[in-house]
Amino acid sequence: MPYLRLEKDNDVAVVWMDQEGEKVNKLGDYLLGEFTAVLDDLSQDNSIVGAVLISGKPDTFIAGADLERVNEITEPGAIQTLVKQGHALFNRLENFRIPVVAAINGAALGGGLEVAMACHYRIATDSPKTILGQPEVQLGLLPGGGGTQRLPRLVGLQKSLDMMLTGKNIYPRQGKKMGLVDQVCSPYALLDAAKQAARDLARKPRKEAKRKPSFFDKVLEGTALTRKMAYKKAREMAEKQTRGHYPAPMRIIDCVEAGLEDGIQAGLAAEAKYFEELWRTPQSAQLRNIFFAMTALKKNPNQDLVKPVDKIGVLGAGLMGAGIAQISASKGIDVLMKDLDFDALGRGKKTIWGELDRRFRKKALSAFQRDSIFSRVDGVIEYAPLGKSDMVIEAVFEDLDLKRRVLADTEAVTPDHCIFASNTSSLPIKEIAKNASRPTQVIGMHYFSPVPKMPLLEIIVTPKTAKWVVATAVDVGIKQGKTVIVVKDGPGFYTTRVLAPMLNEALLLLEEGGDIENIDRVMRKLGWPVGPVTLIDEVGIDVGAHVTEVLSKMFAKRGVSSTDAMGRLLAEGYKGRKNGKGFYKYEKGSSEKGKKEVNTAVYEFFGGSTRKRHNAEEIRRRLMLVFCNEAARCLEEKILLSARDGDIGAIMGLGFPPYLGGPFRYMDQLGTTVVLEALEALAVKHGPRFTPAKIIAEKAADNGRFYDA
Ligand code: NAI
Repeated sequence: MPYLRLEKDNDVAVVWMDQEGEKVNKLGDYLLGEFTAVLDDLSQDNSIVGAVLISGKPDTFIAGADLERVNEITEPGAIQTLVKQGHALFNRLENFRIPVVAAINGAALGGGLEVAMACHYRIATDSPKTILGQPEVQLGLLPGGGGTQRLPRLVGLQKSLDMMLTGKNIYPRQGKKMGLVDQVCSPYALLDAAKQAARDLARKPRKEAKRKPSFFDKVLEGTALTRKMAYKKAREMAEKQTRGHYPAPMRIIDCVEAGLEDGIQAGLAAEAKYFEELWRTPQSAQLRNIFFAMTALKKNPNQDLVKPVDKIGVLGAGLMGAGIAQISASKGIDVLMKDLDFDALGRGKKTIWGELDRRFRKKALSAFQRDSIFSRVDGVIEYAPLGKSDMVIEAVFEDLDLKRRVLADTEAVTPDHCIFASNTSSLPIKEIAKNASRPTQVIGMHYFSPVPKMPLLEIIVTPKTAKWVVATAVDVGIKQGKTVIVVKDGPGFYTTRVLAPMLNEALLLLEEGGDIENIDRVMRKLGWPVGPVTLIDEVGIDVGAHVTEVLSKMFAKRGVSSTDAMGRLLAEGYKGRKNGKGFYKYEKGSSEKGKKEVNTAVYEFFGGSTRKRHNAEEIRRRLMLVFCNEAARCLEEKILLSARDGDIGAIMGLGFPPYLGGPFRYMDQLGTTVVLEALEALAVKHGPRFTPAKIIAEKAADNGRFYDA
């Protein structure tokens, strides 16, 4: 047996799951036969009173379904058959003659959690690696192993919908509180505790696993009528959040409803049918592409060159510095934050504490974990204490001279092997490194705001940056939990550079008399989390004006002039959300039901108060294609190493609609010839900013694509 190993400890059987040749356990058709054989064996062995299901992998129970394997199934109906086989097996497990305890250390995600839920008792360890969840929705799918049925029965309707519709992780203590797990213990005690639980369960008469609903749950989910209201509300929310682009959430709700109202058999039948249906949607295909790309990016291609980083210095305890310090300390790295005075340091530490304590209150961290992470961050106002740092990341103000100065001051006190990383969002790294004494050890590490939440890290490499420095920075980023893309140095690198033309285009629409709300609404409807004009307010008009300045020289070389609208707004004191003076109003009482009101005063800068509505198709076309065209130029100029990196960077860093797969997948989907023609037509009408990138013309010439498949 390459996957399961059966061991017996007197009257308790221990089933070890350890998939051969894989780092994590996955669920695939290959497991069906083996699992059946183990259950057959156990059902005949009368000396056994209970069983434990446990993983032999260090960090996972079961990571989820083997997607690559399902990908190979092309025959219509075959996925549905496989899902039904899984159901039959899990039902057998659930009704097994002896109690089975799931002993969970590490990730129990997707099918992993579904296996655990089919067991009779769940013990999870308090290891930070232990997470539970049904993330299928993020792949455009639904939990296909009975999850839409067992989860609501275990934790209640509302909580189960919340888990399945967001795909979020549940930590052990949260799981205990909501009834998802029965017991939490230390990883060292797991096996013994599980054996003990199996023996205890065997002694007691088997009760049906039934949860005790809270008072609110009873009120909200106790009757068919109140449940009906809950489904309706969930559907409305799903519609609002997906804007009709993602079918999975509706199908999840359908399955839950079928199961709770018409019985588990009806629910499972719906699950099998809709699972295959969703699998075959283009949305799920794109989301799975993203998942595979992100999985690939978790591996460092040059792991052998990595040098250890145990101590990090962070310059600047502002918004970004505090975030970087927090995510580093969370992964066991010692951090020294340096700022100009103790007030600034205090604010930075307060930010970190606030965030850690919020996670503690959510039960995502224990008090001990919160305190030990916090104790790893120290604050200083001088450079000398940075003398033991393996890496220093600067997040001081966006000012070239200042960045050069802090680089020199850092180099003066740090050891020879120390890496200097800049978190600049637009300044070329080579400019910052101009007078560096160790230029091979200067690199860009561009994090996004808010750092603990945003998944992307863009690493920027100059021609001088040493290979081991890149490998080490990638290693640190992956450790910090980020999805890392490595790009070449240049104005705005990749993410800032592709975003700028899109925001510029939105401003040009305004200069043509366009309507702020109209533009934002059209782009949100397409699936962007916020519209481009709102985004300018969020990023800051001051930041935008600065970025325009940095990038305009490069654009000018192509005959493209950027609008100076942001510069003009800034001169009049407009900075966006941060100072409450932007394209929208931010003072209290100006937003009704979360809907912001346009600050019509800004129309002064765009030709007056008479506005017109551009046609939605024109807005989409101009904004999306100017973005894609710039992304293509980045690939052409080898700022990007691959289309994949460009897609992941746009989705994870900028909010490009995931169901469209990123700019390159999107162009492939439209067809490069169609993109080329559309750009040419726009160039005739609006000028050289739409001149197609050479690489698009090349691809179109032989009907080519950016991806082979
Ligand atoms: P911030 O203004 O919140 O914080 C900057 C901090 O640096 C302040 O606490 C300041 O006292 C400190 N500082 C200034 N000079 C210093 C020196 N010589 N030594 C030590 N500390 C010093 O700024 P924020 O937003 O954190 O941005 C910092 C950097 O991160 C900038 O380069 C910015 O472009 C970049 N960035 C910002 C993003 C954002 O969304 N805010 C996103 C990505 C990058």
